[in-house]
Amino acid sequence: MSSHVLILAAGKGTRMKSAVPKVLHAVAGRPMIEFVLDTAAALSPATCTVVVGHAGEQVRQALGGRQGLGFLLQEPQLGTGHALLQAEPLFRGVQGTLVLLSGDVPLLSPATLEALAARHTDSGAAATVVTAVVEDPTGYGRIVREGGEVRRIVEHRDATAEERSLREINSGIYAFDLEPLFPALARIGSNNAQGEYYLTDLVALYGSEGRRVSSFAVPDASEVLGINSRQELAATGRRVWRARNDALMAAGVTIEDPDTTFVGHGVSVGPDTVIRPGVVLEGTTRIGSRCVIYPGVRIEDSDLSDDVWVYDHCVISGARIAQGARVGPFARMRPETVVDEGAHVGNFVELKKTHFGAGSKAMHLAYLGDATVGTRVNIGAGTITCNYDGVRKSPTVIGDGAFIGSDSQLIAPVTVGSDAYVAAGSSITDDVPSGSLAIARGRQLVKEGWVQRKRTAASGQQSADTRSKPSE
Ligand code: UD1
Ligand code: CA
Repeated sequence: MSSHVLILAAGKGTRMKSAVPKVLHAVAGRPMIEFVLDTAAALSPATCTVVVGHAGEQVRQALGGRQGLGFLLQEPQLGTGHALLQAEPLFRGVQGTLVLLSGDVPLLSPATLEALAARHTDSGAAATVVTAVVEDPTGYGRIVREGGEVRRIVEHRDATAEERSLREINSGIYAFDLEPLFPALARIGSNNAQGEYYLTDLVALYGSEGRRVSSFAVPDASEVLGINSRQELAATGRRVWRARNDALMAAGVTIEDPDTTFVGHGVSVGPDTVIRPGVVLEGTTRIGSRCVIYPGVRIEDSDLSDDVWVYDHCVISGARIAQGARVGPFARMRPETVVDEGAHVGNFVELKKTHFGAGSKAMHLAYLGDATVGTRVNIGAGTITCNYDGVRKSPTVIGDGAFIGSDSQLIAPVTVGSDAYVAAGSSITDDVPSGSLAIARGRQLVKEGWVQRKRTAASGQQSADTRSKPSE
């Protein structure tokens, strides 16, 4: 029989104290609901629908790119039972299983979801609830059993002291037989501590109708951790970061300090690459093999080939860096930058939308923007491409083997030919032909003995002043 997935994501997330809807808060760099959607996809459900409400448009937009995802609006948000009830028109006359997930329980594994579906089908129960036994059940609904069977779920706020001592909790994840579900849901009341329609009341209601409720206890309780506060967000995030690092290490990457290494969901790293402490890799970044990423580096949406070394405290964004290149320390690569094989980009060098050729060097203090730099070029310290005149950006082209002396300004648009030299301190406004030397700076003037003459003149003035002072 076909299975359908519904994800509850309409709640405000009051305890987050946020203007951003809870399910869009990032766990390890990724909106928590994305995790839930990925897990849901593992079931290959016939339909997958998200119930949105609080800031619903924002949630819908954030997930707009997902194929085949449906949305339902819950307005106002009167509790989890009321949220599920919104799906009634969607499933009118539909048979099969409805798997209900919570947008704020991101670590659930596909294996658990498959086990839930199997248990539900095998037991023939009207509902199957995923439970876990935890050390600290504070805040969760408790599973109340009689003779081993699930009889009720009582919310923390409504529980007696005795019920609060129960350590088996409701994960908020269930499988339901569609047929009896909605008529029963419609009969749930809101007489409880929060005045909400609790989905959890369905369990006792089914009992009174003589329907069976089964359960599936997850072996690893951390899978069903719900996120309700910033503390829980950080704690869950830490687990995900750590799991990604573990996977990388298992695949042959050295991570010196997994506690301070943050590798995003869309990042790949090749074997024998060494990641030193305090590194952040994010976006769609790919790092090759045998690279070394030194402390304090952040790389996003970039592609690094094999054997690239990125020294301390670089920020690299939207760049492509070829094999054997050296970058940093303290370098910044901005989008559309390409650094070719074996090139060196040193300290305090910024590259923007620049192609930096193989074997070329810019070792210190330079800005190259909208530039095309050939191979084996030497960019002296303090070189600046003046690419912006306040209105438009213009290109700079530097040919193979050229030498740009220190503290030069290349006023774009301008071309320096191959093997040409630009003298240090030049302001280059016109193209420099290949093989030539351009000097564009004020001529030096030397005034010999000038200092001595100045001092003599100054002391003469001083004695004149002293003489004119009235004596005491
Ligand atoms: C819920 C369960 C609790 C369980 C816990 C597990 C109920 C009454 N309680 O409590 O037994 O232990 O999850 O994490 O079901 N939502 C809506 N519309 C609403 C209210 C909530 O869509 O009107 C969504 C929220 O966005 C969230 C999910 O339902 O994704 C759970 O809501 P939340 O308020 O976090 O429930 P808990 O108090 O955690
Ligand atoms: Ca919750």
